[in-house]
Amino acid sequence: MWWNRFPSPRAALGSGGMEWSEHIALRAALEWQLDAGVSDAVAEAPIDRFAVPAPAPETKAKESQPAPTLASVKPVEADPVAEAEFSATRAGDRDALRATLGAFEHCELKRGARNLVFSDGVPNAQVMIIGEAPGRDEDREGRPFVGRAGQLLDKMLAAIGLSRQESVYITNVLPWRPPQNRDPKPDEIAMMRPFVSRHVELIAPKAVILMGNISCDAALRKRGITRLRGTWTEGYGAPALPMFHPAYLLRNPAAKRAAWADLLSLKARLENVT
Ligand code: URA
Repeated sequence: MWWNRFPSPRAALGSGGMEWSEHIALRAALEWQLDAGVSDAVAEAPIDRFAVPAPAPETKAKESQPAPTLASVKPVEADPVAEAEFSATRAGDRDALRATLGAFEHCELKRGARNLVFSDGVPNAQVMIIGEAPGRDEDREGRPFVGRAGQLLDKMLAAIGLSRQESVYITNVLPWRPPQNRDPKPDEIAMMRPFVSRHVELIAPKAVILMGNISCDAALRKRGITRLRGTWTEGYGAPALPMFHPAYLLRNPAAKRAAWADLLSLKARLENVT
């Protein structure tokens, strides 16, 4: 019997002075635990599992970390697109937008350009033309579309009774000339998009003409001018018509027929909205 495995009551009492009745009570409690299935003693002292645990001691590693110094703090990278959006949306009029663009320091093209080419034409125009970027002549004069492509553009507009002196407003996606007239890079287009968008908002034209692939990319995030041209869509929240760029027409005179069809479409639209 397990009972016999315990030391004799007299031996357990020893010299500690435990009363016989206490011994009997302890033994009965032990028997009751054994009957309930207790098989091992896990600790000398009881553990109160409901007590709030003491906070863990601070680790040595934490204590030994050096305090941050100014030199060790990593600078936060600027987000040019977010900054462009922030400042462009706050420009209350064209002059403020031009000044904001002039103060924008994230576009490398600014450093190689002679002038900021902001716009030309009449600010209350019904038609807003958005080209690609200034070339050499535009960079020198600080006005968009003044070179050969610009002269052809003026003739195209005149053919449907429009002009930058009276009825058209002109700007570009990029206000600074890219070196060697290279194509604008995607990040340059992305950081200029908020300025163009605000520009359109301030002019509030009845129609936006997207001249060429770069202009379509900025407004519609699409390229493929041969497919896009001639179909009205929406750009910067306004009715928009993609067209062949006049510089392309100078190189590909056969495309002038399509350009003429698009000009007639623009004319018809203006007659219907006025
Ligand atoms: N091409 C453009 O797209 N814009 C100009 O201003 C001149 C040429």
